[in-house]
Amino acid sequence: MKALILSGGKGTRLRPLTHTTAKQLIPIANKPIIYFVIEQILGAGITDIGVIISPETGERVRAVVGDGERWGCQITYIIQQEPLGLAHAVKTARGFLGREPFLMFLGDNLIQGGVKHLVDSFEQSDSEAIIQLKEVENPQQFGIAVLGEGDQIVRLIEKPPQPPSNLALIGIYLFKSSIFTAIDQISPSWRGELEITDAIQKVIDLGYRVEARRQEGWWLDTGKKDDILEANRVVLDEYMRSINKGYVDQTSKIIGRVEVGLNSKIINSTVRGPVCIDEGVIIKDSFIGPFTTIGKNCCFEKIGVEHSVILENCHLYHVDRIEDSLIGYNTHVQKGSTQRQAIRLFVGDDSQVMV
Ligand code: TTP
Repeated sequence: MKALILSGGKGTRLRPLTHTTAKQLIPIANKPIIYFVIEQILGAGITDIGVIISPETGERVRAVVGDGERWGCQITYIIQQEPLGLAHAVKTARGFLGREPFLMFLGDNLIQGGVKHLVDSFEQSDSEAIIQLKEVENPQQFGIAVLGEGDQIVRLIEKPPQPPSNLALIGIYLFKSSIFTAIDQISPSWRGELEITDAIQKVIDLGYRVEARRQEGWWLDTGKKDDILEANRVVLDEYMRSINKGYVDQTSKIIGRVEVGLNSKIINSTVRGPVCIDEGVIIKDSFIGPFTTIGKNCCFEKIGVEHSVILENCHLYHVDRIEDSLIGYNTHVQKGSTQRQAIRLFVGDDSQVMV
């Protein structure tokens, strides 16, 4: 079986960060989101992976992900000239996918527990598609599935005002080649996109069986700033271990699960985990609170920060409390004259912020 990762799209909800970065490359616990996706696909035994990329951010995705050698798999890039919808992305990958069944995984989604059980059950099933669903509290905001007998999906509705169920499609799908027949028969939606929900509905209307599987563990869609912070919280909570490859001086205190990367230095500071600090970071006279990820070569002095993601090469000076923040690459933040207690930032790459 092959896999298709969707790593194109506009990423409008994550601007300004996505003006310069693909959202699938934003690191969670210092690992790009798309790496988690690739590793989950490999965990299901699939090693032939296609990645949909956009002309704007595709080269960056290619540079960061590579040809798959580091994982012992094969990665093929497929350019989608315009972000015309998830079903359009599948159609664009038709040459790569051929007539084989495939796993489709949105490149900005993370789930607990991987996809092996799902792939195994598709290999033994005579259904044309299996769709992963998750119960959500706000079904009005999602594509929703209505189930019939057993696990069979009978209907899909995009963002229904009066939802008949709370089972949302979460971005992990298994298809056979009937999906191409279906995509050829649908038209763009009101927002001008070929919708995957319409394509799956068409597969059902053509008389094929489409089955649902429920995601029991967590599911994180990292489409917005607060989703990234939540993903960072969940992943740090679940995976962070105490590892010190750097230097922590005698006056500093490390509490809980903290990873300190190679050549990083913690001086006269307190770090309360779970926290992930990448390589070459210098932290001086600061407090780093729980659920914080700090990218390579950052430099902090007299900083208080918690529940935040700070990307590579940021310089932060003299700010007592930064919280719930997502700070882009190469950003400088410095205290000016305000007396504000806490600040929340969402700034793109190469910014200069005086607070
Ligand atoms: P979305 O988050 O639905 O769309 P988007 O990336 O354009 O973001 P926004 O709504 O903030 O503008 O996309 C889900 C995933 O699918 C994401 O990883 C991007 C990818 N995608 C494509 O590869 N091609 C497409 O045409 C679209 C719409 C999305």
